[in-house]
Amino acid sequence: KRRIGMMTSGGDAPGMNGAVRAVVRMAIHKGCEAFAVYEGYEGLVQGGDYIRKMEWEDVRGFLSEGGTLIGTARCMSFMQRPGRLQAAKNLITKGIDALIICGGDGSLTGADLFRSEWPSLLEELVQKNELTTEQVEPFRHLNIVGMVGSIDNDMSSTDATIGAYSSLARICQAVDFIDATAFSHSRAFVVEVMGRHCGWLALMAGISTGADFIFIPENPPEDGWEQEMCKIVSKHRALGKRKTIVIVAEGAQDRHLNKISCSKVKDLLANDLGLDTRVTTLGHVQRGGPACAYDRTLATLQGVEAVEAVLDAGPETPTPVISIIENKICRQPLMEAVKLTKSVAEAIQAKDFVKAIGLRDAE
Ligand code: F6P
Repeated sequence: KRRIGMMTSGGDAPGMNGAVRAVVRMAIHKGCEAFAVYEGYEGLVQGGDYIRKMEWEDVRGFLSEGGTLIGTARCMSFMQRPGRLQAAKNLITKGIDALIICGGDGSLTGADLFRSEWPSLLEELVQKNELTTEQVEPFRHLNIVGMVGSIDNDMSSTDATIGAYSSLARICQAVDFIDATAFSHSRAFVVEVMGRHCGWLALMAGISTGADFIFIPENPPEDGWEQEMCKIVSKHRALGKRKTIVIVAEGAQDRHLNKISCSKVKDLLANDLGLDTRVTTLGHVQRGGPACAYDRTLATLQGVEAVEAVLDAGPETPTPVISIIENKICRQPLMEAVKLTKSVAEAIQAKDFVKAIGLRDAE
């Protein structure tokens, strides 16, 4: 009987619970045993009660809950080899030889490192008399399967990360609320949205709410953007618009990689255009709360595929990440996806914005 562990890692995202539910139930359906690793990598290193067997009914009600019910944590000790050694011992002690991880690119990179080190970790455990050769023998290979959970939609090789559409919906709802008060007072609002180094949430929210101007990291505005923005906002006002909405991605920057802050945008709108302007930073309301229907189905279909991927994997199979491309659930090589994701950030750092946009489009 295969014993499959499921873990959520990195920032929580709506839909992660649906992923846990799908993995647990599909594993059981396929005749495997399912385990949840609580508190992300921290739980893997701690072992014991942090790694619990899950039954069918243990994930009842998970689909509609926000956040991650099995917890997540930033774990420093897993970044060091002794932490990973302890994690390997904990998995073997529990009889687990496959791990499905739902998290961002950093969490998934850590998982692949763990997999690649696995044989040497086993050797070290035997050398140090932590485990015997007989104990490690049945665990020669560790299968890892990644699922991408992040509100940022910042991972290459998938059209959507689990959580991104829920967050987008919440941002749009918040901007709709802001619209009403902005209209009433004929005010301008500068709205900061999350996304880390990725502008997807800001761009999509801007399009969905008909914002006047959007700032995203991948396409920094040309020099003189201050006048350009004011010109566009004035034009909209001259057309009779009573409200102004400017959406700023938290990672927005200009061509010289200087941060574009909400307060700077606010000062421009207030001082140069004389608009009564407020700043709203949406913060973690964008991340918490229940998953939208899309994320529930995405998490469910991908959880099913993740278990299939574990069962299909041979010793030489490269770690897959479960993706959705053109509406089809598929498997991609994890490390290639991570590499492509990193190349967007590198292109931005090198101020090669054309390349950065090309890479994002290629995703
Ligand atoms: O990656 C998800 C995310 O919400 C980002 O959009 C944001 O930059 C970051 O996490 C916030 O992290 P924390 O919750 O640790 O403040």
